[in-house]
Amino acid sequence: MKKVIILNASPRKNFNTARLLKNAQQGALKAGADVEYIDLVNLNYKGCISCFACKRKGSTTNGLCAYKDELRPVLENILQADSIIIGTPVYFSYPTSLFRAFVERLMFPCYSYLKDEVNGGVKRIINKYMPIGLIYTMNCSMEDYKERNYPVILGDDKEFLKKCFGYCEVINAYYTLQFDDYSKYDSNLYDINHKKKYNEENFPKYLELAFDLGKRLAEMN
Ligand SMILES: Cc1cc2nc3c(=O)[nH]c(=O)nc-3n(C[C@H](O)[C@H](O)[C@H](O)COP(=O)(O)O)c2cc1C
Repeated sequence: MKKVIILNASPRKNFNTARLLKNAQQGALKAGADVEYIDLVNLNYKGCISCFACKRKGSTTNGLCAYKDELRPVLENILQADSIIIGTPVYFSYPTSLFRAFVERLMFPCYSYLKDEVNGGVKRIINKYMPIGLIYTMNCSMEDYKERNYPVILGDDKEFLKKCFGYCEVINAYYTLQFDDYSKYDSNLYDINHKKKYNEENFPKYLELAFDLGKRLAEMN
């Protein structure tokens, strides 16, 4: 049975990112996977603390971050998983700090500081193949996404994860609703009716894409 781990890097446990990830979870369950869903905000953890335990001569970390906090058991489970799906809102043009800190701890222990004399590039500490799904949610429209250079800014996450684990695909959900009830907030940057209409039409499509992503990754070899 495939093991899929889903990680929510939004501080909100029931809003846009979580809704999409829960659909990805349903997709993976449909494919018969064993699925674990984690809200990263519940965990007390930091990004890489640059201890370099994973790079020391004779290190036995073997791809697992040495720093012991509440993220470490999750990282340990990920090393045994077949696939992971991470969702994050875009905050000031980048993924959230929950996402960033998680990814630092996930990827840095996989790489040594040695040259790979056989294949070129950097020598790997572990060579794990693990398809990754990335889900971004953002306030901006698809047009703004392009104008603000997000394909390049966010594209780096995909490239790094793909390089590290062999496969990564992305879903973007644009122009998301930020509140359930806009009448309670000072907010006139967007035409709310336009945004609501867009979401009525498009959010179900994003949910479908997320479901398919979960199913597809769980079925992947
Ligand atoms: C601190 C903060 C910064 C944000 N910065 C951006 C941004 O730079 N670009 C953008 O498109 N949306 C931005 N947003 C909007 C969120 O990305 C968007 O509402 C997202 O869907 C929220 O995800 P959630 O519903 O899972 O919390 C920001 C929201 C917050 C709270």
